[in-house]
Amino acid sequence: MSDGVEVRVTTNGPLTVKGPIRLVGSDGEAWADVPEGTVALCRCGRSKVRPFCDGSHREAGFDSAPTPEAQPYPW
Ligand code: FES
Repeated sequence: MSDGVEVRVTTNGPLTVKGPIRLVGSDGEAWADVPEGTVALCRCGRSKVRPFCDGSHREAGFDSAPTPEAQPYPW
């Protein structure tokens, strides 16, 4: 188990990132600093507050449960 950042792929839902983390925008500016806790990042594309998850994946019926065996690390 790592003491660093943990990114979790949830079943039919977001990526959860357990901090401490700094979210940085495409312009390189810090968007949010999360010293502790967890943020949920949308992976379904339906959130109205992207890059964060707002729960819209449930209404959308987002269906994705990737596994390391089915989708191995490509590099
Ligand atoms: S994963 Fe939750 S709104 Fe997209």
